[in-house]
Amino acid sequence: MDTVDEIKQRLDIVEVISSYVPDLKKSGRNFKAVCPFHSEKTPSFFVFPERQSWHCFGACGSGGDMFAFIMRKEGVDFREALRILAERAGVAIVQRKADEGKSEADRLKEINEAAAEFYHNLLFRSAGGQSTREYLARRGVTEKTMRQFLIGYSPDSWDALRQELLKRGYLEGELTAAGLLIKKEREAGTYDRFRNRLMFPIRDMAGRVIGFGARALDDSVPKYLNSPQTLIFDKSSSLYGIDLARTAIRKDNLAVIVEGYMDTVVAHQHGFTNVVASLGTALTEKHVGIVKKLTNRLVLALDADAAGEMATLRGIEVASHTFDQKVVPLPTPAGVIKWEEELDAEISVMVLPEGKDPDDVIRGSPEEWERLLKQAVPVIDYTFDLLISKLDITKAKDKSQAADQLLPLIAEIKHPVRQAHYLQRLARTVGLDERKLNEELNRIKPKAPGPRRETRPSTAGGLLPHLPSSDPLAEYCLYLLFTYPDLRSRVSDLRVDYFLNTEDREILLAWQGTSDPEVLRAGLDSSLREHLDELMSKTVPPLHGDAQERALRQCINRLRERWLRELKAKEQILIAELEAADNATDLYEIQKAAVRLNAELGEVFLYGKERRKRASAEGESQV
Ligand code: UTP
Ligand code: MN
Repeated sequence: MDTVDEIKQRLDIVEVISSYVPDLKKSGRNFKAVCPFHSEKTPSFFVFPERQSWHCFGACGSGGDMFAFIMRKEGVDFREALRILAERAGVAIVQRKADEGKSEADRLKEINEAAAEFYHNLLFRSAGGQSTREYLARRGVTEKTMRQFLIGYSPDSWDALRQELLKRGYLEGELTAAGLLIKKEREAGTYDRFRNRLMFPIRDMAGRVIGFGARALDDSVPKYLNSPQTLIFDKSSSLYGIDLARTAIRKDNLAVIVEGYMDTVVAHQHGFTNVVASLGTALTEKHVGIVKKLTNRLVLALDADAAGEMATLRGIEVASHTFDQKVVPLPTPAGVIKWEEELDAEISVMVLPEGKDPDDVIRGSPEEWERLLKQAVPVIDYTFDLLISKLDITKAKDKSQAADQLLPLIAEIKHPVRQAHYLQRLARTVGLDERKLNEELNRIKPKAPGPRRETRPSTAGGLLPHLPSSDPLAEYCLYLLFTYPDLRSRVSDLRVDYFLNTEDREILLAWQGTSDPEVLRAGLDSSLREHLDELMSKTVPPLHGDAQERALRQCINRLRERWLRELKAKEQILIAELEAADNATDLYEIQKAAVRLNAELGEVFLYGKERRKRASAEGESQV
């Protein structure tokens, strides 16, 4: 038995949760309370002792086992949740050998840390550092902030860092792999990448240095030079300031995402410690995934121009600002909505005055920043408002234009109730018939992947075994994802909720967090690494070509069906209990959720039916 199972066996989920949720009350065979993860008046948060699981049937729709609860409630990762629960259960966690030997990733972080320290010291102990500090002071940055962010100065030299780190015993190859040295083109040898620049060390969630942003102090181009992609650094999945912001983000249940290093530094100095920067790249799903570990509420701070540009829906990923040559990469609203759906997040836009950075706004008036933040609106609402305000909806042409532009966004919304809400809103604002719009919507909806042939009839059905310790379906799914990396781009609808087993869920989360297998493994807790190795060691016949995707599709669909059935079963128990207790208010709430579930289940069944039909047709034609 592994640690996770042992903990689950020793602890009772009701006891664990009630220590965080004191108002947890018995309701029939189960327990309920007002949901600790979103604000509500009637309790829709339930704990099921028989299944040792919990689920919120209200707005947040979250659920899972005791580990999922601790991770969410404490805002910690799996490793930490394991530690908390192990302590509570009196189970010792064995530190395995694998953790002792330093991994390559670890070594590269250590090197970046040594470089950060070197630059930081030079900021205070060199002539170039002196004038850099004066520059920072002119921009209002205090010495305390410089220390907190470990800001530094890279000397105007081709080999100062190289010499220093070689002296400390690091190897040239490692320094190059860490992104600090560049190989000479025409001859052997290397030189320092960063010279005469203001250095911003970029740290990961755990505070380890993974790269640098380096600002020119004169007119050198580029203005910012960043570390290249390395084993430990990937611009599209790093957020500047995340280590210093994580506590505040969790506490405020809100993350504000700005573009620049300076913006982040200045925001923190003024007490806005929930701010992180996306390093001048367009926000990616990976960024959202990182923040999601801490909160599901994100706000993008964009200047008026950029925000307006985003809402024009031109499908552009990059909007350039002609007036100052600045390029502001933006996600598209349809993209944002997709992430919101996939990651269960809420992404809003905070509109800054035209041409102003958060840095300008905050230094001008912190109150103004707070005011603007309060006015942030969800991306979809922002897009609606802006588009509609630009159109004259008394004109037929404008009406159809509004419908053409907004329907694709509405189509991205998977949640039926939310989707209906925006469809209604569109119908009302432009005065078009809702049924007509609905027809149009169904026409453009991203099609569910076409029915696939199945080799075996579906075995899903009935209730799940109680507290399964191995979940072959989930493990096969992971096996496919890890064996055929190309499948990554084919997965958009796999939710961690579909997995029953804590370890499988964690591995999936890690897989979602990075596409680099090395980074992935390095980030796994040793118990997870073992679990992964074990499931990868199973002998499974290889799949070729389309068969890979087909297998994955099938697997995900069965997982989804299983999950929906499980939810349905929980719901039925609740409905029976509420009926018996004559509790009309709660019953109404649950039934609302039930309607939504039925719709989803209907979808899965339809899919399965067609697939089977197609399979038998194909079978016949082959005879
Ligand atoms: P900005 O030009 O707005 O820089 O670029 P900034 O952070 O506000 O810096 P100051 O105020 O001019 O000192 C925003 C972000 O875009 C990325 C950096 O992450 C920067 O912080 N960027 C910008 C680059 O990566 N390379 C560049 O050449 C320019
Ligand atoms: Mn700026």
